[in-house]
Amino acid sequence: MQEKDSAPWWRSAVIYQIYIRSFADSDGDGVGDIDGIRSRLPYLRDLGIDAVWITPWYPSPMVDAGYDVADYTGIDPMFGTVAGAEAFIADAHGHGLRVILDIVPNHTSDRHAWFEAAMAAGPGSAERDRYVFRPGQGEDGALPPNDWRSTFGGSAWTRVPDGEWYLHLFADAQPDLNWNNVEVRHDFEKVLGFWFDRGVDGFRIDVAHGLIKQDSLPDAGETNDVLEPTKRDDHPHWDRDGVHEIYRDWRKVADRYDGDRAFVAEAWVSGPQRLARYVSPGELQTAFNFDYLRAAWDAASLRTVIDSSLEALAEVGAPATWVLSNHDVVRHVTRYGRTHTEGRGPRADTTEPLDLALGTRRARAAALLMLALPGGAYVYQGEELGLPEVEDIPEELLQDPVWERSGHSARGRDGCRVPLPWSGDAPPFGFGPDGVTTWLPQPESWGDLSAQAQAGDANSMLELYRAALRLRRDLPALGEGSLRWHESPEGVLLFSRTPGFVCALNLSGAPFTLPAHNDILLASGPLDGDVLPHDTAVWLAV
Ligand code: GLC
Repeated sequence: MQEKDSAPWWRSAVIYQIYIRSFADSDGDGVGDIDGIRSRLPYLRDLGIDAVWITPWYPSPMVDAGYDVADYTGIDPMFGTVAGAEAFIADAHGHGLRVILDIVPNHTSDRHAWFEAAMAAGPGSAERDRYVFRPGQGEDGALPPNDWRSTFGGSAWTRVPDGEWYLHLFADAQPDLNWNNVEVRHDFEKVLGFWFDRGVDGFRIDVAHGLIKQDSLPDAGETNDVLEPTKRDDHPHWDRDGVHEIYRDWRKVADRYDGDRAFVAEAWVSGPQRLARYVSPGELQTAFNFDYLRAAWDAASLRTVIDSSLEALAEVGAPATWVLSNHDVVRHVTRYGRTHTEGRGPRADTTEPLDLALGTRRARAAALLMLALPGGAYVYQGEELGLPEVEDIPEELLQDPVWERSGHSARGRDGCRVPLPWSGDAPPFGFGPDGVTTWLPQPESWGDLSAQAQAGDANSMLELYRAALRLRRDLPALGEGSLRWHESPEGVLLFSRTPGFVCALNLSGAPFTLPAHNDILLASGPLDGDVLPHDTAVWLAV
């Protein structure tokens, strides 16, 4: 595996998120699979990323697209087999790519053997203690134990036939585990070991900020959304201090293995200081920087989040990570194509007109900014193709549980999960064998956005990502390290990295004349001589 120096790989890695259902379908069932990923490993190697993160591939009833896990050490037949997964991991390593798996410790599927045993064993049993069962309130316990809301809409409690209620911060098919139970802790450490033994390089921890609930289960007094950082540091079920003990134990498990195994936390918390607690010494190595994803497309907001992130992480010696999109938020080409660019994007509920050309121009500039910043970065599959959010999936085809649980008031996240266009000019665009019906429909117009259509076109998003990632590997200034801001007009971000690198992003509304340089390495759009237009970024050799 390529290393620029002896620092561990995860301090500067570009990690490509594979949403397995929508990446590549080898067997023609309309859903992506492990052999599909294997067949596209050369594409990923040539793109220039360092690692892949695979969203859950475990056996699952697929109520939440695999985030409802029925067996943590198996592979869903829809995706392949354990032997196929082992072959894939070896193959990825052969292509110089590391592999990170998604682990889902906050909840299981209601079809997991642990939950089935809990249901069978009844109130007060050891089996029920693995989950969060409670009697209800009111005369005959007909009211839920407290006011907690499911992230997907509705109450977070469901009553079972014997009268008890169980907690689910997500769908009712995703019962929350009780992390005060030592067997739960022990079993998850075995799961980590199972996959480390099979060569995986790390884990992305789903809902890492949710595992510990306040013992007395007090009312939260507010509606909750896992994707919005809680505004309080004393929330009864988000970001509680107790989660850190779990991750310190997980770190010890990882450190027993050779080869720098690493974790990344999905933690939506109230700011960089709280996030830094997940990556303090002896705990996890990295965490997603969702403050960056949520920042508005203006120089002041970006500068603020860059500085506060770097500062908070430096205090604990952890590298920064940067991310613009994932399978839970509106694709950033679309987010940046509207007036209100902050947050994780309005969904279909918006009436704001969309300017895709504007969003694409900004997304190109955003890629160059992100990949020039110190630390690591995440690329969500399809962002390298400039895919927009699909906002017109017919209602009867929507799959996200959010659609049903919100009483059809929120369309959910399907619009960023549409199968990738690889080639050709009609669906399925090479995603699977011709004639296959993909699990979410692809827009007829996606032919121009396919990987094949973009390859070799110097002006394409794909070639911009390839060029940027190539330079990132070659230039000693990029990846881990620090940056120095330079004086610039309001609305222009201008920083240097040593040795010999400058990045400029112009959001000022006026043309900006570039500082002295030896060479223009890469630009997100056309320059006018030495003048950098609005919504454009450039990398300079100095
Ligand atoms: C995380 C995942 C999301 C999933 C949820 C419940 O936020 O990214 O897709 O629905 O957890 O597991």
